[in-house]
Amino acid sequence: MRHLLTLVEYEPHEIEYILRIARDFKSRYLAGEVYLPILQGEVVLLYFEKPSTRTRLSLTAAAAQLGMHVVYTTPEELQISRGEGIADTMRVVSRYAAAVAARVQRHETLEEMARHSSIPVINALSDKHHPLQALADALTLWERSGKLRGIKLAFLGDVSNNVATSLAIIGAKLGWEVRLIGPKQLWSAKLVDALSEDAAKTGASIYFSESIDDVAGVDCVYTDVWVSMGFEAEAAERKRLLGPYQVSQRVMEMAGKRAIFMHCLPARRGEEVADDVIEGSRSAVWDQAENRMHTAKAVFAYLLRP
Ligand code: CP
Ligand code: NVA
Repeated sequence: MRHLLTLVEYEPHEIEYILRIARDFKSRYLAGEVYLPILQGEVVLLYFEKPSTRTRLSLTAAAAQLGMHVVYTTPEELQISRGEGIADTMRVVSRYAAAVAARVQRHETLEEMARHSSIPVINALSDKHHPLQALADALTLWERSGKLRGIKLAFLGDVSNNVATSLAIIGAKLGWEVRLIGPKQLWSAKLVDALSEDAAKTGASIYFSESIDDVAGVDCVYTDVWVSMGFEAEAAERKRLLGPYQVSQRVMEMAGKRAIFMHCLPARRGEEVADDVIEGSRSAVWDQAENRMHTAKAVFAYLLRP
């Protein structure tokens, strides 16, 4: 039984295998094979401590297409709100459901869930990681560039956030060059250290930079909001620090003709990205959102029908 908490715990061949399953699900879906009930009758619990559009809906659609039944809940609706612990909750849920996908304020909550669970726990976003997003983004980049390995990606802006971290991790696993471009205050030497072993094996290069000039020659310019959920207290400081890192047409021109624009969404136009970039012909954001569903199906299939 496996969990999916960060992707650090996955081997490159496992990630590639999940992405191949996702590609297969997608081509079947586009050919009209929407309903493939390989997990008929199984129940998946979605436990969400924060709002969500894409993650909640893509997991729900994916589960429905595989024949599963979805229960969505928040802590307020469970006895957790009255003091029942995560440990007892997970021991009970493990008796009813086949998997839990959880979006949590603190990553440690997911780790505690996993410790007390006998069913797979899937990270549907935490303050530190967003592995389902990184999987969908790898699929999008594979489709757009024809490559799974050797992608060059520049992430501009809040290089300390969950999405940037998960892209760095999947990049280390798949031999990418990931340039995390943002102010020094947000760099993490710990992340680069933690990925150095994987990077040495795969030929990946993961590094931080302050210079927007480093977007030159990439396959993809990626950004995300400057103020992630749960970081609202730092909003004023983040906006001040990150102002120079907005992805504008000028940045896309510096990146070169080949570069596409990516964003996990939701976006704040006029902050981390200019409206004409996200709406422009190089924007892949709707494909990314669509691919969340196909990769969610692959994750369910991989974890529940190994
Ligand atoms: N990209 C993403 O995870 O979006 P939601 O917050 O809408 O789920
Ligand atoms: N970094 C963002 C991603 C939202 C999908 C957040 O955590 O709010």
